[in-house]
Amino acid sequence: MPDLTELLERGYLIVPAFLDAGLVQELQLAIDLRDSRGEFRAAAVGAGVARTVRPSVRGDRIQWLDRPQGPAESQLLERLETLRLALNEQGGLGVFDLECHYAMYPPGARYARHLDRSAAGAERIVSVVLYLNPQWQDSDGGQLRLYSNPVVEVAPCGGTLVLFMSESLEHEVLETRAERRSLTGWYRRRARQLNG
Ligand code: OGA
Ligand code: MN
Repeated sequence: MPDLTELLERGYLIVPAFLDAGLVQELQLAIDLRDSRGEFRAAAVGAGVARTVRPSVRGDRIQWLDRPQGPAESQLLERLETLRLALNEQGGLGVFDLECHYAMYPPGARYARHLDRSAAGAERIVSVVLYLNPQWQDSDGGQLRLYSNPVVEVAPCGGTLVLFMSESLEHEVLETRAERRSLTGWYRRRARQLNG
């Protein structure tokens, strides 16, 4: 497991090759299978009655990962569970749960600058992104831009893991020129713990 000091001190952490190439390949197949079953839906923005699909703001399609289908997804969720325990042991973050979805950005899609924690989702503590693109080229674009100081850009290369604090770090997905696949999730604390 990675050393999480940088996440705690600086607000984000980037770990190249967190997943090996074989697992990235298998997860790509798992995504294709789910997509062929019509499981992906256009992602919406906003909350409550204002919740709408607005591709100029957010152009990906997502599929929530509630239950693993097959050994690759089981392995993925085990790795993310080990990471959850490390967040608690190394950082004392008290995160009890992970909600996550696959995301597919078709060419031309982006996700405008935003924060992951809305008023409705105050229990999101740490955001996790894992990239599932085995052959990413710089010219494919689609970088994750983190509005830290200084600003950092991460190419969505297969196996790369990014962790950041959900409450404080604004970020954006730059327009992609190739189909871009990822898993995005949030380690959550119980709302009750935040409210005392
Ligand atoms: C998100 C998000 C970043 C990425 O889904 O909220 O910011 O690099 N994703 O896919
Ligand atoms: Mn986000």
